[in-house]
Amino acid sequence: MRLRRDEPIQIKTPAQIAIMREAGLVTAAALHAAIAAVAPGISTAELDAIAEREIRLAGAVPSFKGYHGYPATICTSVNNQIVHGIPSAEQVLRGGDVISIDCGAIVDGWHGDSAVTVHVGHGDDGAEPGSPGDAELAGLLRACEQALWHGLAQAVAGRRLSDISHAIARAARAAGRYGIVREYTGHGIGTQMHMDPAVPNFGRPGRGPVLQEGMALAIERMLVLGQPQTRLLDDEWTVVTEDGSWAAHFEHTVAITADGPWVLTAPDGGVSGFATLAGRKTLAGRNAPEPVAAGAGDQQKARD
Ligand code: MF3
Ligand code: CO
Repeated sequence: MRLRRDEPIQIKTPAQIAIMREAGLVTAAALHAAIAAVAPGISTAELDAIAEREIRLAGAVPSFKGYHGYPATICTSVNNQIVHGIPSAEQVLRGGDVISIDCGAIVDGWHGDSAVTVHVGHGDDGAEPGSPGDAELAGLLRACEQALWHGLAQAVAGRRLSDISHAIARAARAAGRYGIVREYTGHGIGTQMHMDPAVPNFGRPGRGPVLQEGMALAIERMLVLGQPQTRLLDDEWTVVTEDGSWAAHFEHTVAITADGPWVLTAPDGGVSGFATLAGRKTLAGRNAPEPVAAGAGDQQKARD
């Protein structure tokens, strides 16, 4: 992603955050529809069509399409692909694969951005030779998602930006011996998908800008089973691990509000995700609880 330096961080009014919530819910619905269709035999181009349809039905606009020439609504990154994989009719999922789906939508000029990684069924005879085992992959996905939630929990007014970075890094290290991808960061988000500040996934706490009510961030975290070095494929989008190890990517858009972090791309605003930090349940992938009904203050009505 490219950021213009030295731009002040965009501060949103509560009314603008409410529109970003709509964008977040559309993004979540499109991601959910694509994830629900994940199964052996489906192509990543088909998943892209499902997500695009969901976004357009909501009267919103896919934000990735046309972004620096990007050709699709979602990014689909399979197995050793870390991020920015381009959907294709030739890329057909197999049992045992993992797929990261990244999606963004615009409502009235305001952006949402979110990504999730799921395991495609369970390993079977169709699985890619040498695939990691189910338990190893489940551990990777859980560690990656949990680290993201540790970062989201730091999106609190008065904390500093690197408190988020530090919480993510510490949680990832505590989770096991995973490769921590450093080249790709989270980002500010609002009237554009990528805005200041960059949100690194490592670093010492207590540094960087003080977080303020009205800021919104897309926090994203990538973990790999092997070494974290990356390589860009010839399509100039797809980022893969240099060592071929498999990867996970989770991302949410969060607003810093007077009431704490509001995870705009989580249907329940983050309630169940933050509950996992207290060790009450696990969330990874398709085992995530069904989205709960929007509570008071959620702008579900605006989509009807
Ligand atoms: N969530 C991804 C990111 O922030 C979105 C990439 S959009 C694309 O990097 F258009 F560049 F694919
Ligand atoms: Co992003």
